[in-house]
Amino acid sequence: MVTKARIAVFVSGGGTNLEHLLLAQEAGQLPHGEIVLVCASNESAYALTRAANHGVPGVAVPKKQLTQEAFEAALTEKLAEHRVDMIVLAGFLSILSENFVKQWPERIVNIHPSLIPSFCGKGMYGLKVHEAALAKGVKVTGATVHLVNEIPDGGRILLQKAVEVLPGDTPEVLQKRVMEQAEWVLLPQAAELLANQIVQEKEQA
Ligand code: GAR
Repeated sequence: MVTKARIAVFVSGGGTNLEHLLLAQEAGQLPHGEIVLVCASNESAYALTRAANHGVPGVAVPKKQLTQEAFEAALTEKLAEHRVDMIVLAGFLSILSENFVKQWPERIVNIHPSLIPSFCGKGMYGLKVHEAALAKGVKVTGATVHLVNEIPDGGRILLQKAVEVLPGDTPEVLQKRVMEQAEWVLLPQAAELLANQIVQEKEQA
């Protein structure tokens, strides 16, 4: 009997979303999933230290100097080595090609720090998203967790949560509120949703 979906988390930076996934797992809030690998797109990602602190294998697959094909081949090799079932993009800022994404249909989850379809698409990541939201003057923003398909920032939306924009917000202050109130809550929930679905599908196969 299959009991847990094997999860790889892809990261590029600080890894606070990874931290909350690991804490959720340790608190029993990810009963159908197990984080078996953390892949960082650069060697200095603090997320790798977080993985080590929680006893989860971490590996750096630096994009620089590699072609897109070689980069994705290296990622694919790591995923196969760890028998990964699903991927969580938790602040992973390297582009994955359509070719890679096609190998993982309905198996890649991404977190984006806005309410899609607002403030998403090419060039919209990290602080830039919050800068754009403040420039537009929206009163509510939030975060979205969605499955990734061939369309950038497309795919089925799994969860969304709204967060208030307050007078005087800077991009940094807004980013922190969106993380605390939405991202850190939604991502573990979405990971569990997909992990549960994978387990059910495997048990029925
Ligand atoms: C998060 O805010 C995440 O939503 C964003 O990068 C940050 C990573 O923080 N991702 C994107 O903008 C993807 N389009 P973390 O490394 O502390 O989890």
